[in-house]
Amino acid sequence: MKIQDIRDLKGKRKITMLTAYDYPIASLVDKAGIDMILVGDSLANVVLGLDSTTKVGMPEMLHHAKAVTRAVKNALVVGDMPYDSYQVNSEESVKNARRFIDEAGCGSVKLEWFDKCLEVTEKIIKAGIPVMGHIGLTPQTADKLGGFKVQGKDAEAAQRLIDQALALEKLGCFAIVLECVPDKIAELVTGKLTIPTIGIGAGIHCDGQVLVINDMLGLFERYTPKFVKKYLNLSPLILKAIEEFKSEVTGEKFPGPEHTFSIKEEELKKLKS
Ligand code: KIV
Repeated sequence: MKIQDIRDLKGKRKITMLTAYDYPIASLVDKAGIDMILVGDSLANVVLGLDSTTKVGMPEMLHHAKAVTRAVKNALVVGDMPYDSYQVNSEESVKNARRFIDEAGCGSVKLEWFDKCLEVTEKIIKAGIPVMGHIGLTPQTADKLGGFKVQGKDAEAAQRLIDQALALEKLGCFAIVLECVPDKIAELVTGKLTIPTIGIGAGIHCDGQVLVINDMLGLFERYTPKFVKKYLNLSPLILKAIEEFKSEVTGEKFPGPEHTFSIKEEELKKLKS
């Protein structure tokens, strides 16, 4: 999938995006024909056990992005710029964005909205790097938005979202994530843009949908936002398999003959004599 393929899907069919952080899961997501794979900074929460996405940096993001791109044959891989790579260190933002493309092999980067978002986005796009915007609930600056809450709930806040989306489109973003926004506002934004909107907690009217893979597979138990649908509940299945292994090892049932290598009896005799 190329940037233009994603843009062309608007109005034709819904776009699919999931996160992935490693080779085996990225292989499956790609094999299933998902259009875009986001190496999200949600890595911090669902893989690394941290309490905030602001706690991952470029080394962790590049490490995981490389594992994902090694697996992917078709999907467009989007590298999520970590907080300090463009919000704290905005002078380094173009260099950091380029590392996702040149070192990790991603096809684009994603940036969350913040006070200097337009300035930074413009520089990255002018450097020839495709950018996906992200507005609404932006976890990296959730403290400034009153916490992890639905955004755009009154006319003034909704107008701000529309303005942000239009400004990002004007700069040349190829798509925009809308996170935790009332469905009617997401519908309005989607109708005003010529580029696709990708919703997460933003209702059915967006041009596409994204979920965090660990949430939709039931592999993250700390909390589950309302917008998550669990297509599978993996955690109990994994726990059961691990408990079975433990019981078979302590009960001397594993490894069985089928998992064991042998040596010819005569060789063993020779050795013993
Ligand atoms: O980091 C992430 O997984 C994201 C999605 C929630 C869109 O930004």
